[in-house]
Amino acid sequence: MKFTLKKLDLEKSLGSLKKSAFTAESLIITEFEQDKKKPSLSSLFTCVDKRLNGYLADSIREEEFEFKAGETLVIKLNSAERFNLDMQNTKKIILVGLGEEKDFNKKNERKAIASLVRKVKAEKLKSFAIKAVKDLALLVETAILVDYEFTKYKTEPKKDKKELEEVLILSETASAKEKELISKAEIIANATNKARDLVWEPACVVTPSYLAKEAKKIKAENLTVKVLEKADCEKLKMGSYLAVSLGSDEPPKFIEISYVPKGKIKKHIAIVGKGVTFDSGGLSLKPAKAMEMMKEDMSGAAATIAVMTAISQLQPAGVQVTGIIAATENMPSGKAYRPGDVITAMNGKTIEVNNTDAEGRLTLADAVAYVSTKNPDEIIDIATLTGACITALGNVCAGLMTNDQALLERVKASAEEQGERMWQLPLYDEYKEKLKSSIADLINAGSGGQAGAQNGGLFIKEFIGKKPRSEEQISWLHIDIAGPCWFEDAQDWSPKGASGIPVRTLLGYILSI
Ligand code: BES
Ligand code: MG
Ligand code: ZN
Repeated sequence: MKFTLKKLDLEKSLGSLKKSAFTAESLIITEFEQDKKKPSLSSLFTCVDKRLNGYLADSIREEEFEFKAGETLVIKLNSAERFNLDMQNTKKIILVGLGEEKDFNKKNERKAIASLVRKVKAEKLKSFAIKAVKDLALLVETAILVDYEFTKYKTEPKKDKKELEEVLILSETASAKEKELISKAEIIANATNKARDLVWEPACVVTPSYLAKEAKKIKAENLTVKVLEKADCEKLKMGSYLAVSLGSDEPPKFIEISYVPKGKIKKHIAIVGKGVTFDSGGLSLKPAKAMEMMKEDMSGAAATIAVMTAISQLQPAGVQVTGIIAATENMPSGKAYRPGDVITAMNGKTIEVNNTDAEGRLTLADAVAYVSTKNPDEIIDIATLTGACITALGNVCAGLMTNDQALLERVKASAEEQGERMWQLPLYDEYKEKLKSSIADLINAGSGGQAGAQNGGLFIKEFIGKKPRSEEQISWLHIDIAGPCWFEDAQDWSPKGASGIPVRTLLGYILSI
């Protein structure tokens, strides 16, 4: 999809438009919800309506169209009408409701844009023109996110399916600033779609080695990618992570992507993504139904690769970003780790494994312990960690847990801005009891199904290192995305399937520093 920013004051130009100035197949007109008695429509609506001898006003009256948030009305143009508008290519005008002006917010704006993009596609139009709306970035991002489909493995393309090819953004200024906003939004939305692609791909394709290859593809100034092999991890004594990998024929790959900008660094953020490319449960095997979707267990890793890809292109100043993925499969076999085994993580803590299906926290234990040695200011882990988090918060909302409330608030504010649902769960000290083992320092699945999301969070917290020359822990935020990594139904800004959460939240946060 191509975005073209065009300097054009449409109201003024109607009647003298050059042929090449307006090639879009549809024209979008957005309006706030109207008071039936005294409508106050935009000057664009009025100008176009005048040239069409009142056709638009008649249509909204006949259809009782009120411009409620996300509502659309398609108006077909015949050749005489196209001629009157100097819009020879324009087959349809689509009216779009923004809802009540007093409630107007990003959510409604996103909803309106999503529904107009879906409408343009349903009408099989290749392009639309729209006057620069309030939030240009939101328009571009939402269009790219809603247009996404994963069709790679469909051998029969849908008949007469048309792709949305071009969005013509009409602006009176067409400034360099607007151009920049568009290209930044494209980078962020395309990165989100990259994460979605990786999650959609089956586990026979996306192995730990595949993730390592994807990471190595990110090539940019100020960015390096390092992959630690099994032997390297053994030297580092990552016994917890490596235990998970034992049952698989796929070699584990520990991936480190680091972006270090030139100049003064205000903050160093580490992002740690769970990268279990398939979670069978291991010897604590999952039942068939629960295993069906376990290719999604690397959604945190996909988001990490996506964030680092966008960072490599946006090159933010003043923020160092490290992306870590301890990639592995979790499989049962004669080589697999067993319930009852005691393993040792790189920070020396011993763990009794009572359930090999609580493997995510074992991989993250070494990943966060490793990245702690790099002294980041903040560690944010993203993990499809617990079914319990889905029980607590459902399928659209991620769970947030932290040892630094201010960090959580900052990230949550970014999530709200981006329309990604996230909600805090506590990490009560009382529940630390459930981490206790009779044989080792910790037990990996000791809560017997109670407060399962917190149990996972509290376990990971045990491996967060200390700030340099301090007894205080590094600031840490845990994002459990087991629910929203995959949408069961389409959302305002996303088709159903892989969501790309929390790529935009994290980029929004990093770019705000
Ligand atoms: N990968 C799963 C969690 C999950 C469940 C992700 C559903 C996405 C959708 C994780 O490794 C797991 O199996 N967790 C167990 C933990 C339990 C054994 C303590 C769970 O949630 O049942
Ligand atoms: Mg598991
Ligand atoms: Zn898992």
